[in-house]
Amino acid sequence: MGPWRVLTAIVLCSARSLAQTPTKPQYSAIPTLNASIDAAPSLIPNILDPTAPNAQDVCPGYKATNVTNTIHGFTANLLLAGKPCNVYGNDVAELSLVVEYQSQKRLSVKVFPKYLAPANSSQYIIPAFITGLPDVDEGTTLLGNELNLTWSNEPSFQFEISRGSERIFSTVGTVIVFEDQFLELVTSMIPEYNVYGLAEHIGNFRLGNNLTRTFYAADDGNPIDSNVYGTHPMYLETRYKMGSDSLSHGVYARNAHAQEWLLRENSITYRTIGGSFDLYFLSGPTPKKVIAQYQGGIVGLPAMQMYWVLGFHQCRWGYQNWTVMQEVVDGYANAGIQLETLWNDIDYMDQYRDFTNGELNFPVPAGQAFLEKLRAAGQHYVPIVDSNIYAPDPGNASDAYDTFSRGATQRVFIQNPDESFYYGDNWPGFSVWPDFLNPVTQDFWTNELIAWYRDIPYDGIWIDLSEASSFCVGSCGTENLATNPAHPPFLLPGDPGMIDYTYPESFNITNVTEAASAISASASQASSVSATATTSSTPPASTFTRTVPTPGVRQLDFPPYVINNFFEGHALVKNSIAPNATHSDAYNTTEYEMHNLFGHLISNATYHALLQVFPNRRPFTVGRSQFAGSGNFTAHWGGDNYSKWGSMYFSISQALQFAVAGIPMFGVDTCGFAGNTDYELCSRWMQLSAFFPFYRNHNVIASIAQEAYVWSSVADATRTVMQIRFSLLPYFYTLFYQAHFLGETVMRAVAWEFPNDPQLAGVDNQFMLGSCLLITPVLVPQAETVKTVFPGLAEKTTWYDWYTLKTVDAEAGVNTTIEAPLGHIPIFIKGGSILPLQQPGNTTKTSRQNPFNILIALDSGGSASGSLYLDDGESLVQEESKYIEVKSESA
Ligand SMILES: *[C@@H]1O[C@H](CO)[C@@H](O)[C@H](O)[C@H]1NC(C)=O
Ligand SMILES: *[C@@H]1O[C@H](CO)[C@@H](O)[C@H](O)[C@H]1NC(C)=O
Ligand SMILES: *[C@@H]1O[C@H](CO)[C@@H](O)[C@H](O)[C@H]1NC(C)=O
Ligand SMILES: *[C@@H]1O[C@H](CO)[C@@H](O)[C@H](O)[C@H]1NC(C)=O
Ligand SMILES: *[C@@H]1O[C@H](CO)[C@@H](O)[C@H](O)[C@H]1NC(C)=O
Ligand SMILES: *[C@@H]1O[C@H](CO)[C@@H](O)[C@H](O)[C@H]1NC(C)=O
Ligand SMILES: *[C@@H]1O[C@H](CO)[C@@H](O)[C@H](O)[C@H]1NC(C)=O
Ligand SMILES: *[C@@H]1O[C@H](CO)[C@@H](O)[C@H](O)[C@H]1NC(C)=O
Ligand SMILES: *[C@@H]1O[C@H](CO)[C@@H](O)[C@H](O)[C@H]1NC(C)=O
Repeated sequence: MGPWRVLTAIVLCSARSLAQTPTKPQYSAIPTLNASIDAAPSLIPNILDPTAPNAQDVCPGYKATNVTNTIHGFTANLLLAGKPCNVYGNDVAELSLVVEYQSQKRLSVKVFPKYLAPANSSQYIIPAFITGLPDVDEGTTLLGNELNLTWSNEPSFQFEISRGSERIFSTVGTVIVFEDQFLELVTSMIPEYNVYGLAEHIGNFRLGNNLTRTFYAADDGNPIDSNVYGTHPMYLETRYKMGSDSLSHGVYARNAHAQEWLLRENSITYRTIGGSFDLYFLSGPTPKKVIAQYQGGIVGLPAMQMYWVLGFHQCRWGYQNWTVMQEVVDGYANAGIQLETLWNDIDYMDQYRDFTNGELNFPVPAGQAFLEKLRAAGQHYVPIVDSNIYAPDPGNASDAYDTFSRGATQRVFIQNPDESFYYGDNWPGFSVWPDFLNPVTQDFWTNELIAWYRDIPYDGIWIDLSEASSFCVGSCGTENLATNPAHPPFLLPGDPGMIDYTYPESFNITNVTEAASAISASASQASSVSATATTSSTPPASTFTRTVPTPGVRQLDFPPYVINNFFEGHALVKNSIAPNATHSDAYNTTEYEMHNLFGHLISNATYHALLQVFPNRRPFTVGRSQFAGSGNFTAHWGGDNYSKWGSMYFSISQALQFAVAGIPMFGVDTCGFAGNTDYELCSRWMQLSAFFPFYRNHNVIASIAQEAYVWSSVADATRTVMQIRFSLLPYFYTLFYQAHFLGETVMRAVAWEFPNDPQLAGVDNQFMLGSCLLITPVLVPQAETVKTVFPGLAEKTTWYDWYTLKTVDAEAGVNTTIEAPLGHIPIFIKGGSILPLQQPGNTTKTSRQNPFNILIALDSGGSASGSLYLDDGESLVQEESKYIEVKSESA
C-alpha cells in the first residue's frame, strides 16, 4: 500500500499506542519527521508548458551515410544534419543505425551513439540480462518478410515501415532527435486509430487520440491516466478493413527511462529522457498473434503458476494478530466459501521491518501452529515483503536489525554518489534499498528469505512499494539515523484516529442511516483536522520551469525535459529514490537509468530466492512495480484502488493491458482497497473478479471489514460464483499452460476474439475468458439488468447461457438487455467450445481429486473442440503431464 496522502479525511493522532515488546521503543516515542524532508521543487511538465520549445521546430535531424547491407538488413551512420539544437540535452553528433529483419514477423530498428563506451553503455542500452534483447531468429531470410522498412535522407533521415500496401509506422516529415537526456521520434497515424497497451495506467482499454502516457514508476493510488507502478512501452494497433480481415501490429520501444508517449489526433510522439531507440515492429496480423510475438519473441513467456494460485485469496491490512487470522479462516469455513490463501499485510512485522514478526501480536511459535493448521486444511499463506530495509539508529544497540547489519556488511544497498548508503524514508523510518545490480545482492536476498522461511513457512511472497517508494526527497536519513525509528512526515491510514468515511456511490440508497452518519462523522473529523491544523501536502522547495542543457553534463535529478509525473510539483525526486543514487555494478549505473526497473529486479530476485526455498517448485510472487518481461517471474495486482464503482470498471481494462504486457496472472483488490465498501459493490465485485486469473479481496486498515462473509448477500453471491470458478479450474489452468507455452492470453478483449468487428474496438465492460466464455458484469449501482453485445452473430456464432444452457436469442450488432439482479453475473458459452470442468471441492487440492465433467457447446455447424492440460500443479519440471485435445464433429 502507499502513503495515501490523497485521502481527504485526516485527523491528527495523539500518542500511538500500538503494542510493543518491552525491549523496543514505544511507538508513542517515535518522532514524526518534519514535512520539509519531502519538499521538492515544483516544475511545469513539458506537455503543459506553452513556452517549452518544440524539438521538431528547432532540431536538425540526421543524415544517413555509409549505408551497408548486412545479411539481415543494413547498418548506417547517422550524422547530425545541422547545428545542434541541444533542446533538452546535448545532441549526439554521430549515431549508429542497425536495421534487422529478425524474423518474418519482427523487424528491429536500433539507433544508439556511435561511440558507445562500456562505462556509459547502460545509459543507453538496457543490458540483455535485465529484459529480453532479441536477436535474429534462426533460419530467418530476407525473403517473405511481412514488414518492409524504407528510408530517405530528404530533408533528413526518416523511415517508414509497411506491411504490404499498409504503412504502419512513419517518421516522414519529422526529425529524429537524439540527445544525452532527450530522444524524440514521431510517427504519423491514421485518423481514429485503435491503439491498446502502454501499461500500466488506469483508464480505458482503447487509448484514444488525445492522451499522454507517462512512464515513471510511482507509489500513487491508481490515478486515472497518470503514471503509476509499471512500465511496458509496447502498444498494439488494430486497423479495421471494410469487407476484409482487420490487421493488427505491435510496436515495442525497449527503453526503461522515464518517458512519454503523446497520443495525438494524427500522430504518436515518443519521448524519453535517455537511452536509445531500440524499436521492434511485430506484424501480427491478429491481436492475439501480436501478443504472442511480443511474449514469445521478445520479453519472454509468462511464468507457469501453481494450480493453487487459482484459488481465492483473502488479505487485509489490519489483521491484528494470529487469532484474528484464525477467525477469518473460520469465517470462510463457516460461511461455506472456499478460502485458498490467507495473506498478511505489514501488520505482522516488528515495527515494519522485513523478515521479522512482531513478538506480541505475531509471535513465531503461534504462527507456526497457525500455519500448520492452515496447511493441514490444504490452505496457504502469503505475507507482504516491503522493498525497503529499515536502517537502525547506529547509536542504539537495542535498535539493531540483523537484516540491515548483514546487508551493510556486504554493502548490498543502493548508494549515494559518494558511496555512503542512500537513506530514504518509508514505513519503518529511514531505510535503505537492496541494489540488485550488485552481484552479491541475490545471495543476500535469498538468505534472508530462507532464514525467515525457517520461522514462518510461507507459500509465496508479495512484494510491495517496489517503485521504489521513498517518502522523502534525497538521502534524507543521512545524518538523521539517530531519530530512527521515525514516523513518516504525514499521517497514514494506520494511524489512530484516521478513519475512512468514504463509501461507494450508492451507499446513500442501500444504507441510508449509515450514510447519513458517515457524512456527519466525516465532517466532524474534517473540522478536528483543521482545528489541530496539520497539512498533508508539503510546500515546494522552489518553483522553476526547466533546467538548461549543459555541455558534458547530465542533470540527473532535474533533467531539462520535465515529464508529467503525477506527484505534486512533478519532480523525479518526489516520493522516490533520487535519480542520482548509484548502483554497485561495474559502471556505477544510476537510478536515472534504473528507476523503472527496481520492481522488475526485486521480483526477479524474489523468484530466484524462492527457487532456493522451494527447489523445483514454481515460485509464486506478486509484485507492484514491473517492467517489460516481468511476467516471466511475477504476478501483478492492480495496486491501491478504491471501493468505488469506477475502480471496479477499470479493473477490466487493467487486466487487458496486462494481457498485452505479458502478465496474465493479474487481479485487483476486490471490493476495493481504500474507502469502505458496501454489500452491493462487494457483491458485484466478488462475482466479477472470480473470472480474473488472480482473485483476491484486500483492503486498507482505516476502513470496515470486507471479507466475503461479512454480508449475507455478498456471501451468497460469492458462494454462487465460487462454484463456477472452481468448476472451471481445469479450463483456467489449461489457459495458463497455453499462455506459458504459446504466448496465448487468459483474460481477453472481445475485440481480440472477434477481430473483424469495428464495433468491438473499445469494448471494456465485457470480456472473454479464453475463447469460450463471455462475461458481462454489472458495473453500475442499483441495476437489475445489463446490456450486452453478443459478438460474432453475423458470422453465425452461437451463444449459450451458462446457467440455463439455452441458446441466446439476440440480434447482431444490437445491445441486448439481460436480467442481472444482485448475486447474478451473466456468463455465456461460445458455440463450438468444449470445456473441461471439475466438481468443486473446498480447496483447489480437494477439487483436483473430484470427478471431471465435459461441457460441449456446439456451434451452428454442429461441431466443437477444446483442450485440457494436466500436470502435478506445482513442479517447475514435470515428470509427467498431459495435453488433451478433443473434438466433436457433426455426423
Ligand atoms: C561503415 O559501416 C561499416 C559496417 O557497419 C563499419 O564497419 C565501418 O566502420 C563504417 N565506416 C565508418 C567511416 O563509419
Ligand atoms: C534474475 O536473477 C537471476 C539470478 O540471480 C539472474 O541470473 C538474472 O540475470 C536475473 N534477471 C533479471 C531480469 O534481473
Ligand atoms: C520494400 O519496399 C521497397 C520500396 O517500395 C521495394 O522496392 C522492396 O521490394 C520492398 N521489399 C520487400 C522485402 O518487400
Ligand atoms: C484533449 O484533452 C484535453 C485535456 O483533457 C482537453 O482539454 C481538450 O479539450 C482535448 N482536446 C480534444 C480535441 O478533445
Ligand atoms: C487480537 O486482536 C483482537 C482485535 O484487536 C483483540 O481483540 C484480541 O484480544 C487479540 N488477541 C490476542 C491473543 O492478542
Ligand atoms: C542527489 O540528489 C539529491 C536529491 O535531489 C540531492 O539532495 C543531492 O544533493 C544529490 N547528490 C549529489 C552528490 O548530487
Ligand atoms: C447519493 O450520492 C450520490 C453521490 O455519490 C448522489 O449523486 C446522489 O444524488 C445521492 N442520492 C441520494 C438518494 O441521496
Ligand atoms: C450499513 O453500513 C454499516 C457500516 O458500513 C455496516 O456495518 C452495515 O452492515 C450496513 N448495513 C447494510 C444492510 O448494508
Ligand atoms: C565508480 O565509482 C567509484 C567510486 O566513486 C570510482 O572509483 C570508479 O572509478 C567509478 N567507476 C566508473 C566506471 O565510473
